[in-house]
Amino acid sequence: MEDMKDIQWFPGHMAKTRRMISKSLPLVDAAAELLDARLPLSSRNPELNRLTGKKPRLVILNKADMADPDVTAQWIRYFQKLGFAAITADSKSGKGVKQFAPALRTLLHEQLAKYEAKGMKGRPIRVMILGIPNVGKSSLINRLAGGKRAKAEDRAGVTRIQQWIKTGDGVELLDTPGVLWPKLDDQEVAVRLALTGAVRDDILDKEALAARLMTLLKAGYPQALSERYKIAPETEGDGFLLLELMAKNRGMLLPGGVPNTERAAITLLDEFRAAKLGRISLEKP
Ligand code: G4P
Repeated sequence: MEDMKDIQWFPGHMAKTRRMISKSLPLVDAAAELLDARLPLSSRNPELNRLTGKKPRLVILNKADMADPDVTAQWIRYFQKLGFAAITADSKSGKGVKQFAPALRTLLHEQLAKYEAKGMKGRPIRVMILGIPNVGKSSLINRLAGGKRAKAEDRAGVTRIQQWIKTGDGVELLDTPGVLWPKLDDQEVAVRLALTGAVRDDILDKEALAARLMTLLKAGYPQALSERYKIAPETEGDGFLLLELMAKNRGMLLPGGVPNTERAAITLLDEFRAAKLGRISLEKP
């Protein structure tokens, strides 16, 4: 699967994606929008509403295993209020993935009743999966297909025929997911995507990024900081100071006893991404 770390979102690339989506959309009954449960807004594509129009939408909050379950429940209600069907999933282990087909049936019940009235019972529900790179599109497709996934031809110059992947419960997936771009111009969004590792973080200063994470953790998950890095919840100070404290408490010191905040930053980012700090959400509705 394409990796956002390697993707440059040139206008030409975006235009190609828009064309691919508008060509595929008439073929499907619903659009499945895959988001990262830890940052549902930052992992959304800014144009998706416009691109998919009135097509019924299923929102999948993926990587729910790494997100705060209470916050994820709030997000589910948020998306339901917007008129979408919404489920959580952990596409790595497969947990929650079995909600996919029933949620689609509920979302499309009127349409399905019409088909049935016309004697088209058993007609498959066709869906297209959309999402930014790294959000888990191919993991989800593989889970839904249960390893039966057909390898699609993708040779230059060969007209590619759309293929459908059967999931075994009356749902068929378009074999090529829509790889969308994130909100590229929003610095806050870029920081959060970099924190989860969805975009390359080498363009950003690691210590500044880790300091931002410290501030977010201090505000939302102070117990994670005290348990893992012995930073007392009542500690005053900005993210850089917390990073210094972490370095001291972890014995990460430079000659002369100076806290090695660069090492602490790398450790914090690694441990956060490996979910060693617990289940943490970076955005609330
Ligand atoms: P994409 O097609 O949208 O680009 O994403 P892809 O499925 O390749 O998933 C990107 C990374 O996210 C993979 O990790 C994948 O295992 C992980 N992932 C996908 N869904 C989930 C989920 O629900 N929970 C968790 N915890 N992880 C998920 P990777 O580091 O690239 O590979 P690996 O760790 O599987 O070796």
